[in-house]
Amino acid sequence: MKIILVAGARPNFVKIAPLIQAIKKYNRKKRRPKFKYFLVHTGQHYDYELSHSFFRQLRLPDPDFYLGVGSGSHAVQTSKIMIEFEKVCFKTKPDIAMVVGDVNSTMACAIVASKLGIRVAHIEAGLRSFDRSMPEEINRIITDHISDLLFTSCKDANENLIKEGIPKDKIHFVGNVMIDSLKKNIRLAQRTKILERLDLKKNGRNSRFGYLTLHRPSNVDDPVVLGGIVSALKDISSQIPIVFPAHPRTAKQLRKFALLKGISYSRVKAPLDETQRIIMVPPLSYLDSLSVMSAAAIVFTDSGGIQEETTILRVPCLTLRNNTERPVTLTEGTNFLVGNNPDKILRIARTVLCGGKAKKKIRRPTLWDGKAAHRIINILAGCAH
Ligand code: UD1
Repeated sequence: MKIILVAGARPNFVKIAPLIQAIKKYNRKKRRPKFKYFLVHTGQHYDYELSHSFFRQLRLPDPDFYLGVGSGSHAVQTSKIMIEFEKVCFKTKPDIAMVVGDVNSTMACAIVASKLGIRVAHIEAGLRSFDRSMPEEINRIITDHISDLLFTSCKDANENLIKEGIPKDKIHFVGNVMIDSLKKNIRLAQRTKILERLDLKKNGRNSRFGYLTLHRPSNVDDPVVLGGIVSALKDISSQIPIVFPAHPRTAKQLRKFALLKGISYSRVKAPLDETQRIIMVPPLSYLDSLSVMSAAAIVFTDSGGIQEETTILRVPCLTLRNNTERPVTLTEGTNFLVGNNPDKILRIARTVLCGGKAKKKIRRPTLWDGKAAHRIINILAGCAH
């Protein structure tokens, strides 16, 4: 069976790595038909920090095909990916196109493969925020409805798909590949020197600090919304310093809206002056990010994957959105949905930091055990016979 795996943006690399490792492991077993695989990098993310450092740390092989599509409007980016990916499909004639997550690369390649009669396997299927103003929600719905094999990470995803009329026999609940990567890499991550470099670990002891990531258009493209979030976080930073690896889009908007006052910018070391305790740094590598996140007292984010990672790391997470496609992190994990209202962010952060809002029943969501990729590859192997 020939599989073409697609990755385009930062969170995709983390999900693809365990799948490639599982394929390699499967192929090592004797007396079994082998998988042949190709890796496509669409080039949606191209900066060193958002792409190359992830390939290196996750020990991903160099892509067989690099499409180099770069940034652009949704239509421009999606169409460029489709045009280039179609050429790769003609050349490689795969049996299965494997797409992960919900980025533009996921949807673009799923559409191409589906129209060429190539079976589409979607990893992380069925997640729904029920908010169609998010580009990712559109990508999820379209990808799921043209996929032949839908691999889900939580039970509510199965329910969503069934409600939308997807036949049960296409849906496989396998667990969470992002957690496969976390489990494999957390020890390595905790050995990095990032906390020392940021001056957050002295004489072997970690300081108490917060961790912030922010990149959703709904949070960073409006000066009033972004200004409100920044003012709440500045307030919180008088209590604990906050490490803030800024996504290129967010860094651009902060400069454009003149919101950088009171935020320190440092490549390596943070000048922890009392008025500049939000420490903005370039995007962190995968291992550095895991290391900082696992040692943080509190995380503020609008990312999807970080809601899941903090649940496994048992670090309180304030999600700066009004909805989440990952409700299991609210019911079983450490996640609190706080939206982007500054007063609410401040109130809940203060309660969490005083230890007043610790969740009683934190459980590891079912099948988030580091073995999701193996389940997926075994199911695919079953389809080949
Ligand atoms: C994309 C995904 C989002 C995911 C995020 C993870 C979609 C619709 N969005 O959002 O779901 O959570 O990746 O990081 O697919 N840029 C750079 N360097 C890069 C890539 C982007 O500077 O390597 C800048 C460009 O100015 C670009 C902007 O970031 O216009 C946005 O990049 P894009 O890939 O379109 O979306 P993300 O916001 O990164």
